[in-house]
Amino acid sequence: MTGQTILLLGVAAAAIAAAVGAFAIAWRRAQTGGTPTVSRETLEADRPRVVELPAEPAPEPEAPEEAEEPEPEEEHEPVPVAVVTAPKVVEVSPEEAGVTRRQFFNRALGATFFTFMGVLSLDFLAFLWPKLSGGFGSDVNAGPAADLLEQAVNDDGTVTPVFIPEARAYVVPAPEPVSEQFRDKGVVAGGVFALYQRCVHLGCRVPWCQPSQGFECPCHGSKYTSIGEYFLGPAPRNLDRFVLELTEGGELIIKTGSIIETPRAPRITVKYPQGPSCIGEVGA
Ligand code: FES
Repeated sequence: MTGQTILLLGVAAAAIAAAVGAFAIAWRRAQTGGTPTVSRETLEADRPRVVELPAEPAPEPEAPEEAEEPEPEEEHEPVPVAVVTAPKVVEVSPEEAGVTRRQFFNRALGATFFTFMGVLSLDFLAFLWPKLSGGFGSDVNAGPAADLLEQAVNDDGTVTPVFIPEARAYVVPAPEPVSEQFRDKGVVAGGVFALYQRCVHLGCRVPWCQPSQGFECPCHGSKYTSIGEYFLGPAPRNLDRFVLELTEGGELIIKTGSIIETPRAPRITVKYPQGPSCIGEVGA
């Protein structure tokens, strides 16, 4: 799985997580029936209470008109009490109350931030994690080494490198004996080298030039022989190459996680150029 695929998966996962979160919040609000939320302070302030009003003075009894009539009993009128009724408020728990708009936006902001950080972390891990199955950065099986060698050498003795896209490498025939600077580095197996396609100057992809039988960089004119030895231009060293292994069945394993750098060749060991250059004298 490439880093780009993992990035796409990460973004898709973030979008799904955000959608699920929004759905969950909307569902929860629907469950509470849109009940307005009331804070505890508001509930306390709105709690019904009884207010006692001061008692009014009792009216003075009227003087009796006739002595014969019995004196009326003194009556005490009840003290008027005013009862203030507050609107009925149903106290609900925070779980039942759902979330306020501010809480919703705060949580959405937090979720977005953590989702972003999560995706970023996944991308970082995907970049650093050693690839275990195929792809550049891992071991690439290029097929039988004998077949590759046969394809790379033409009937007239000229060379046509076999490009392995998954390894970003050119498989080229190695001369016998191999020059000293490439010995004991594990870069020759089954009679071939695997050269990294990247120019060691500033990283352009270096194409093969069939007429001259070398690699010629169109960016600033660096030139290399068919086995990647430095020949001309601003490149500081030979083309880089990968460590190789042969399986018991003779298949060539290009270990693209192991890149070997070598200094400019003190002298080239294969003939170059053998014909006209593909880029002329750029940077010469
Ligand atoms: S990138 Fe190849 S010569 Fe500059």
